[in-house]
Amino acid sequence: MGLRFLHASDIHLLDLTGVGPLRYFNKRATGGLNLLLGRRKRHDEDRFDALVEASRRLGVDRLVLTGDLTNLALESEFEHVARRLSSLPLPVTVIPGNHDTYTRGSARARRFERYLGGFMEGERLSDAPYPFVQDYGDVALVGVSSAVPTRPLWATGRVGPDQLTRLAEVLRRLRGEGKMRVVLIHHPVMEGVARPRHELVDLDAFGRVIAQEGAELVLHGHEHKVVRGHIEGPEGPVPVHGISSGTAVAAAAPYAAGFTVYEIEGGTMRSELHLWQDTDFARADARLAVSPVAAP
Ligand SMILES: [Fe+2]
Ligand SMILES: [Fe+2]
Repeated sequence: MGLRFLHASDIHLLDLTGVGPLRYFNKRATGGLNLLLGRRKRHDEDRFDALVEASRRLGVDRLVLTGDLTNLALESEFEHVARRLSSLPLPVTVIPGNHDTYTRGSARARRFERYLGGFMEGERLSDAPYPFVQDYGDVALVGVSSAVPTRPLWATGRVGPDQLTRLAEVLRRLRGEGKMRVVLIHHPVMEGVARPRHELVDLDAFGRVIAQEGAELVLHGHEHKVVRGHIEGPEGPVPVHGISSGTAVAAAAPYAAGFTVYEIEGGTMRSELHLWQDTDFARADARLAVSPVAAP
């Protein structure tokens, strides 16, 4: 059994119903307010509707979202996201992004896991929520969290040594079972892709785990642009694909709203990039004007 899924990211759905201004002023007036004002112009939830419609048209089995589903990790935003995802006509897998743990309080309360845990069901090595493994026959999705609260205006990520140890073991086991391993992580894992203060701080340690245990594909979001490249694996390069924001209003590739459809079956993998063009998503592999990022 293979899997045909749609990878999208950074949908940043906004819902401030019932949220008083104090709620975000008390956290970070700088980040919070600017972010909300700017985001209304940069993201359009109608594109998420179009993305869902495209997933139906393209006959995908599953929607995979690699984090930043909210903006300020407010309860109203999570309620909105949970409601939207539960009402979709196809199953969904999610992992958190830095915006989903925007405040220390939201991380401490495990708000993401509390509202969206139903989309992260799977096998785990221990009680720790990450990594989780969803088994689809030939294919295993491995959900990693790099989401941590950060200082104002920072957007760094961290997997942490304990989760990396578990990730190594999970990847080793899945390789033994002959699975195609698709690792999901919010932050870019190739050197030089993330902007300053947006990086995965333990990128090198993550790279060492992949170099040793391997993976068949790594998918990420966070920089709101399409990225194609690879990192080192034990038997050759491991492809790394980043996707733009699924709700971006930006018009030009690689920043236009986008998603990639993957079809993985019997040891083979095909991918199709779709980007927003005028009024809808359209096949866009040729529109990708970025050159692939070389492995470090
Ligand atoms: Fe984002
Ligand atoms: Fe992000």
